[in-house]
Amino acid sequence: MEHDARDGRSESPAAFWNRRYQAVDGLWSRDPNALLAEFVASLAQGRALDLGAGEGRNAIWLAKRGWRVTVLDVSAVALTRAAERAAEEGVELDCVEADWREYRPAPASHELVVISFMHPEPAERVYMFERARDTLAPGGHLFVVGVDLVDHGRRGPPDPERLYTTERLRRALEGFDLLRCESVSSVAEHKEGRPRVVDVVATARKR
Ligand SMILES: C[S@@+](CC[C@H](N)C(=O)[O-])C[C@H]1O[C@@H](n2cnc3c(N)ncnc32)[C@H](O)[C@@H]1O
Repeated sequence: MEHDARDGRSESPAAFWNRRYQAVDGLWSRDPNALLAEFVASLAQGRALDLGAGEGRNAIWLAKRGWRVTVLDVSAVALTRAAERAAEEGVELDCVEADWREYRPAPASHELVVISFMHPEPAERVYMFERARDTLAPGGHLFVVGVDLVDHGRRGPPDPERLYTTERLRRALEGFDLLRCESVSSVAEHKEGRPRVVDVVATARKR
């Protein structure tokens, strides 16, 4: 899977991502992230927030399994695509076009927050997880997956500080009960080719 190549340019996140999505019919695989599917299998359905949901592959999978899903993304193009694909699959998503840094969901309003291949800069990373924690009801779960630093130069943003390591993720999730935090090697969910990739995955529960 491709990832954010933007790095300190003047273009806004919305302009950058709309341009990328407009260039192709589908930027990402339609399959949900396998680690998310594995994790969610043991959870009771509820309200989920997918932060930076893209074309909705994870959100649609969740909605088909009974979750009420809010998809937030800065790209209107991605959200339109997510809504169309959801309709094709017979489910509905609550779409929110916003920059996550400016979005304030009601506190304790969700049982699950999904953050899949979002790579903000380090200061914002901590803030993103704090925001996720506020959004979760007590006992609610956070699922995070992103590119491991060992894949720097092959995938993800050019700034290595924005990639994940288990140590970085552990530190950023200090306010949670951490359930899992590890590097996972797998065959990529890529449209072209099937290279081996390394991601960092974490699951955590709000106290
Ligand atoms: C690498 S894609 C991942 C998409 C999806 N989570 C997935 O796993 O298929 C990153 C997504 O984050 C969105 N995004 C980037 N910066 C954002 C921001 N500041 N606020 C909201 N969405 C953002 C992009 O539009 C893009 O859809």
